[in-house]
Amino acid sequence: MRGISKHFGGLQALKDVDLTLHAGELLAIVGDNGAGKSTLIKVLTGVYPPDGGSISLDGQPVRVPSRRASIDLGIDAVYQNLALVDYLTAPENVYLGNEIKRSVLGITVLDNRGMRKNAAEVLNERLGVALGNIDQMTFNLSGGQRQAVAIARALIQQKVRILILDEPTAALGPEEARRTLEVVQRLKGKDMGIIMISHQLEHVFELADRIMVMRRGRLAGVRTVAQTTRQEILGLIVGSISDYEADGGRSGASAPVAS
Ligand SMILES: Nc1ncnc2c1ncn2[C@@H]1O[C@H](COP(=O)(O)OP(=O)(O)OP(=O)(O)O)[C@@H](O)[C@H]1O
Ligand SMILES: [Mg+2]
Repeated sequence: MRGISKHFGGLQALKDVDLTLHAGELLAIVGDNGAGKSTLIKVLTGVYPPDGGSISLDGQPVRVPSRRASIDLGIDAVYQNLALVDYLTAPENVYLGNEIKRSVLGITVLDNRGMRKNAAEVLNERLGVALGNIDQMTFNLSGGQRQAVAIARALIQQKVRILILDEPTAALGPEEARRTLEVVQRLKGKDMGIIMISHQLEHVFELADRIMVMRRGRLAGVRTVAQTTRQEILGLIVGSISDYEADGGRSGASAPVAS
């Protein structure tokens, strides 16, 4: 994403933001409440049209006018508030809106057995999450299990190349958060690029390859995890360190860094 801007009425939610994601890496986006993190990924997933800027994939310019368009490009997001239906089972949630159908004597019916089998496979093998009884209603599942169902839902879309997780551990207790981090860890390192928004720096430092810091709708800086510290990231978040003159990095500002 290059030079992305977005305003809501008089509020400049994003100003000239760049985002680069490499295949196979996990990029964390951090920043204070209202910094523009969710808005940026909503632009990437076709929820909001940007006012300006461009998006390219494999060096080719792409347009993302709708959620559908982003999914067709292989970009899918699991949002902060998980859109799971409580009174459906995990496989039904995983395939909601993408049901597998088959033909029986010329009549199209839902392939429930196929969906159940595939959903169980993704959950158990790819994500390493056991649900116990896969046919139970989703409202019986724990927060971490629900998060896994939501991730499985994104993964069954043909060829997910970019998976976006918006605060995957925010609503979870420590143990469930830990399990969800393990799920994300398992997904890492294949061709898929992962973008994870998080307020929890310990999780970010554990999982991310690079960290992108946003502040007041702008990019405050990008750092490789191996070459930064919590101190520096916190400084970028609160604005005591800034890579960009325009962000007003007066106190302790470092020289502009191209990253
Ligand atoms: N649909 C909308 N209409 C109006 N203003 C919006 C809308 N969506 C976001 N905003 C505003 O844009 C700014 C950025 O919001 P955004 O949700 O991107 O922040 P965030 O970094 O994800 O914050 P948080 O960490 O709290 O989730 C905020 O000031 C927010 O109030
Ligand atoms: Mg948000």
